[in-house]
Amino acid sequence: MKFYEGCTALITGASSGLGAEFARQLAPVARGLVLVARREDRLEALREELLELQPSLQVEIYGADLAVEEQRTRLAGWLGERAIGIDFLINNAGLGDHGHFDSSDWGRVRAMIDVNIGALTHLTHLLLPSMLRSGRAAILNVSSVASFFPLPNMAVYSATKAYVTSLTEALAIELRPKGITVTALCPGPVPTEFFDVARRGEDATAHYETMGPVVVTPAVAVRTGLDAVARDRARVVPGLLLAVSVGVALVVPFFVTREILRLFSKKL
Ligand SMILES: NC(=O)c1ccc[n+]([C@@H]2O[C@H](COP(=O)([O-])OP(=O)(O)OC[C@H]3O[C@@H](n4cnc5c(N)ncnc54)[C@H](OP(=O)(O)O)[C@@H]3O)[C@@H](O)[C@H]2O)c1
Repeated sequence: MKFYEGCTALITGASSGLGAEFARQLAPVARGLVLVARREDRLEALREELLELQPSLQVEIYGADLAVEEQRTRLAGWLGERAIGIDFLINNAGLGDHGHFDSSDWGRVRAMIDVNIGALTHLTHLLLPSMLRSGRAAILNVSSVASFFPLPNMAVYSATKAYVTSLTEALAIELRPKGITVTALCPGPVPTEFFDVARRGEDATAHYETMGPVVVTPAVAVRTGLDAVARDRARVVPGLLLAVSVGVALVVPFFVTREILRLFSKKL
């Protein structure tokens, strides 16, 4: 955790799941944390928990709907007014939608694109100039294993995460010579509120219990992501079993992958 000593991190989606876990793991070493999400009561409770753990930590909370462009711009302005320099941006906020595209709700689809793609890209664009001026900074984009495969039943979600991994890989090359580390954390299933949000009604397939040995805890997923940033890796998949499976799947010709996905989709 030496890499993070004295850092000031902004964590989107800090009100639950991986975002809250990032805050807990960074709290003992960071100088400051800015916690962003819509549910401010959750952020306030997390702030109290973190300050008990580390009384010297500076914890700011900021309530925002990151699907809305003006709210993202306002967040950047608020950071500027308070002279809060972010040297570690964790673009973690995201949501999924489990089910067929033809029966999806447009509002949900729109929110997925606006948060998973729009907020991540826009916040990176807004904060990058000051990160570049500081000369040493890091960006961690929370993507997904879904970014490697066009998953039926999560078609838009996996497409948004393909964007995230692709953008991250390109920015990692562009920004490394300028002192910025950019990493995509690509978890498989992690028990958080993710599927409570993604599930449509009583869908028994969208539960972590059905997903077998590739499930990793939030603590492991977050630790893997932080280690990867510290080692300047462009992407990482938490969990050995999943990492090996993805490695194998990515060398299989795509027509084989497509047939596997077709079979897989019939079970869901
Ligand atoms: N859990 C998994 O199985 C899994 C697997 C692969 C990748 N991921 C990725 O991991 C990231 C974190 O998800 P999680 O598993 O921790 O799920 P989670 O517990 O549902 O957390 C999602 C977070 O995103 C925030 N968020 C959603 N929409 C937002 C909006 N419009 N404005 C601001 N914040 C918003 C939520 O905060 P509010 O609701 O308070 O706004 C919440 O803090 C996501 O990018 C997800 O795609 C998760």
